[in-house]
Amino acid sequence: MASWERPEYRAMKALVEGRLPLLMDGASARGSKALADAMRYSLLAPGKRLRPVLLLLCCKACGGQAEEALPFACAIEMVHCYSLIHDDLPCMDDDDLRRGMPTSHKVYGEGMAVLAGDGLLSLAFETLHEDYALCSGEPEKLRRHTAAGRMLAEACGACGMVAGQAEDLAAEGKAVPGEALDFIHVRKTAALIRAAAGMGAVLGGAAEEDAREYAAYGESLGLAFQVADDILDVTGDTQVIGKTAGKDAAQQKATYPAVYGLAASRVRLAELTERAACALGRARGDAAAIGMLSGLARELETRAK
Ligand code: IPE
Ligand code: IPE
Ligand code: MG
Ligand code: MG
Ligand code: MG
Repeated sequence: MASWERPEYRAMKALVEGRLPLLMDGASARGSKALADAMRYSLLAPGKRLRPVLLLLCCKACGGQAEEALPFACAIEMVHCYSLIHDDLPCMDDDDLRRGMPTSHKVYGEGMAVLAGDGLLSLAFETLHEDYALCSGEPEKLRRHTAAGRMLAEACGACGMVAGQAEDLAAEGKAVPGEALDFIHVRKTAALIRAAAGMGAVLGGAAEEDAREYAAYGESLGLAFQVADDILDVTGDTQVIGKTAGKDAAQQKATYPAVYGLAASRVRLAELTERAACALGRARGDAAAIGMLSGLARELETRAK
C-alpha cells in the first residue's frame, strides 16, 4: 500500500483537513465574505497535503504530539495554497486547472485571486501568532514554536520560495545552465518541503543535529518532488495530475527534462531520493515514523500525481 493510502497518512491528513475550515471560519467571520469564499475554494480543494503531513510525521518521529504541531501544519498548507494561486495567475504560469478544478482567477477573477493568495499568506502567520500567545507561560515551548515559525518565514520569503518563483519567471524562454535550474528548484519547491520536515523536527523537540538531518531529508525530497513534477508535466495525464499537462514545454520553462532530457531526469530523481533516505538514516527518532518517512520518499519517486 502506498504511504499516502496508509492509515497514519490519512489520519494526519484528516487532522489538517479538520482544522483548516475552522481557521477559515475565524477569518471569514471578521473579514470579507467574498474574499473568504475565494480563500476557502483553494485551501479546501483536494490537494495531497504533503507538506503538513510531512511536518506532523517528522514531529512524531522526534517524539512530539500532532496536536501541538497542528497550527504549523495548517500554516504551511496555507502558504503552499497561496503559492499555487499566484503561480497559476495569467502573469505567471497562466494555468486554468489546479487540483482538478478551475484555477482561482478563472472562478473569481484575477484581482480576487491575488487577494485570496495574500489573505492565505497572512492567515498562516496570524495562525502562528495565535499559537505563540498560548505558549507565553512556557518559555521552552515558545522557543521551539518561534524557531519553527521563523523557518516557515525564511522558506517562503525573498530568499526562499518567492526567490525561486522570481528566477523561474526570469528563466522562461532562455537556455539555463544546470546550476541556475537547481537555484530555481531548491527555492521554489524544496525550501518549503525542507521547512516542513525541519519545523516538524524542531516542534517535536529534536536535538539540533537531528533537526538538521530531517531538514536535509526534506531538502532532497523537495528537490526530487519538483523533478518528478517536471517529469509528470511531460509524461502525465491532465485528468490524473489535475493540472494542464505539457504546460512547461509550451511556456519554455526551465525544467529538468528541458535541460537534461527525461532519462537523465529520472536518474537525478533516483539519486535525490537516495540522498533523502541517507539523511534520514543519520537521524535519530521513532523507528516506525522514520520508516514511514523513508517509504514516502521512495513512493513519491514514482507518483502519478
Ligand atoms: C504542486 O505541489 C506545486 C509544486 C511545488 C510542484 P503539490 O503537488 O504538492 O500540489 P497539491 O498540494 O497536491 O495540489
Ligand atoms: C511550482 O512550480 C512552484 C510553486 C508553486 C511555488 P510549478 O509551476 O512547476 O508547479 P505546478 O506544476 O504549476 O503545480
Ligand atoms: Mg510555476
Ligand atoms: Mg505552475
Ligand atoms: Mg510543474
